[in-house]
Amino acid sequence: MEEKQVITPWEVKGSVDYERLIKEFGLQSMPVLPKQFDHLLFRRNIIFAHRDFQRIVEAVENKKPFVMMTGMMPSGKFHFGHKTVADQIIFYQNLGAKVYLAVADIEAYNTRISDVAELKKTAIEEYLLNYIALGLSPKNCDFYFQSKRSKDGKKACAYYRLAEMLARNSTFNEFRAVYGEITPAKMASSLLQAADMLHPQLPEFEGGPVPTVVPVGVDQDPHLRLARDISQRFEAFKFLQLSSTYQLFQPGLKGGKMSSSDPMSFIALTDSPDEAERKIKKYAFSGGQQTVEEHRKKGGNPDVDVSFQMLRYGLEPDDKKLKVIYDDYKSGKLLTSELKQIAVDKVRKFLEQHQKEREKAKSKLDQFLWKD
Ligand code: TRP
Repeated sequence: MEEKQVITPWEVKGSVDYERLIKEFGLQSMPVLPKQFDHLLFRRNIIFAHRDFQRIVEAVENKKPFVMMTGMMPSGKFHFGHKTVADQIIFYQNLGAKVYLAVADIEAYNTRISDVAELKKTAIEEYLLNYIALGLSPKNCDFYFQSKRSKDGKKACAYYRLAEMLARNSTFNEFRAVYGEITPAKMASSLLQAADMLHPQLPEFEGGPVPTVVPVGVDQDPHLRLARDISQRFEAFKFLQLSSTYQLFQPGLKGGKMSSSDPMSFIALTDSPDEAERKIKKYAFSGGQQTVEEHRKKGGNPDVDVSFQMLRYGLEPDDKKLKVIYDDYKSGKLLTSELKQIAVDKVRKFLEQHQKEREKAKSKLDQFLWKD
């Protein structure tokens, strides 16, 4: 029997049925997008669903201001799954969005890791350095810790005030319906996340209602549902409804999900090229057949092959080349060892370049952080 699908912000279990998720959560499939949104994550339907994304499309088409807001818990290594989100952040920044980027250290403290010093170190060395190395610019970017919103007291008060006052508009039953099991720690985390997503619209930040897109993994949708609902009941301020997009879970090396607690399930952006090669050759789940003869006869399955999926998620940016690899693997012309070698070469090249950028990024940290 198949394992039951469980998807909450703090737990993802079982095989994920995206069609069912779209129905169950009430998401929209992605519409055809104008040329400004020509990015491989959209073209390849890796960003597969949305809520109210039309508002963002309109803002871009009419050259109106908009905000891109997202956040990540600083737990463990920054891996290729995180990179997919970082790629979107940088894409929106280049498209002209004002970027709000949260380190969800309070959420991580409340739900996972109690070592505050470790959280801070991970946030800077794993997250911020990689964001910068991938191309995040300090211009038009408000990077902050949930535990340390702003050195400007007015701004900081406005953010924490919002998190507290949003509580008025929610009920216990609603939390239970959206999250299943709920605890005070989780409740505090989801109200703070609602404040993360909504506070750019406050007078102290962007000055008033502004279209805001939140790109996330689909496990974050409960947070979005709650924030969307309570924001529209808020009397103290009139928020424009949030927009959001949802990307697929990038498969872990062994198939299934990437998990920060199992280093053999992912390639980190700080893994050495040799380590990455070893992981792919040893662990990357293959869609190929048992023997070469059988593979030549029946062909492989690129849809479940992890090396192919790594190319699809961005290591092969050229759609035509990707299609040739897809077809050749499917027909049996391309062997698993050959496909793995293509992925290995791409990963090695990416990591070598990226790790140089990471070294350079160290001198830019101060442009994103402030001294106490
Ligand atoms: N809950 C997110 C995670 O688990 C982190 C997060 C905090 C976030 N605030 C956010 C995501 C606002 C999107 C928008 O990683």
